[in-house]
Amino acid sequence: MSYARIEIAPSILASNFARLGEEIHTVEQAGADVIHVDVMDGHFVPNISIGIPVVESLRKATRLPLDVHLMIERPEEYIEDFVRAGATRVLVHQEATVHLDRALAMIREHGAEAGAAINPATPVLMLSDVLDKLDTVLVMSVNPGFGGQKFIRGALEKIRQLNQWRTRYNASFRIEVDGGVDLGNVAELAQAGANTFVAGSSIFHASDPAGATRQLHKLATEALSHKV
Ligand code: DX5
Ligand code: ZN
Repeated sequence: MSYARIEIAPSILASNFARLGEEIHTVEQAGADVIHVDVMDGHFVPNISIGIPVVESLRKATRLPLDVHLMIERPEEYIEDFVRAGATRVLVHQEATVHLDRALAMIREHGAEAGAAINPATPVLMLSDVLDKLDTVLVMSVNPGFGGQKFIRGALEKIRQLNQWRTRYNASFRIEVDGGVDLGNVAELAQAGANTFVAGSSIFHASDPAGATRQLHKLATEALSHKV
């Protein structure tokens, strides 16, 4: 099954933006699978980060898929722009739109993969009626807005539940986890059923970002091979 492949997704929020191209090159060479791009509007989350022009530049700087995490209100108004800028995947927050079903359909119509993200306070049940429109479910393991926060363990149970749904409903969405992912919890997360691991500070603030990328990959992959 396609979702069974482990993906390490460095989050550029923790990188040095003045050297963004080099930072991406480093993790790409080390085997990163996806580049995670955090878009914040200062309304949905209490921080402002980057937007459409940066995605455009990134598209030219790497061949890796771009995982665009929209932490913005009314995401449906910007989906087309982000896809046109080069987003491979667009992730919208369930809490940010009253028209999640429509937003997910729009993402696919524009030719990108569709994902829904849920905050720590949002139960997975909120996604039960849109499973067929999801290529990815993003479980937030911190409250979105900032890098470098402590992992919230309640995310593990949500990942297990989603993993069960996937089997029960014969679905094939990826389970992605974002926030506080590091060498100490990546194995447990993989065993719970996560496939895509977003890592900001544990990669870009490490003394050796390439080594950290490789190590995350190794630990997640080994955890899966020990599972069965
Ligand atoms: C948080 C962002 C994350 C963040 C993760 O709002 O969605 O992608 O960059 O950073 P770490 O891995 O440092 O928790
Ligand atoms: Zn993110």
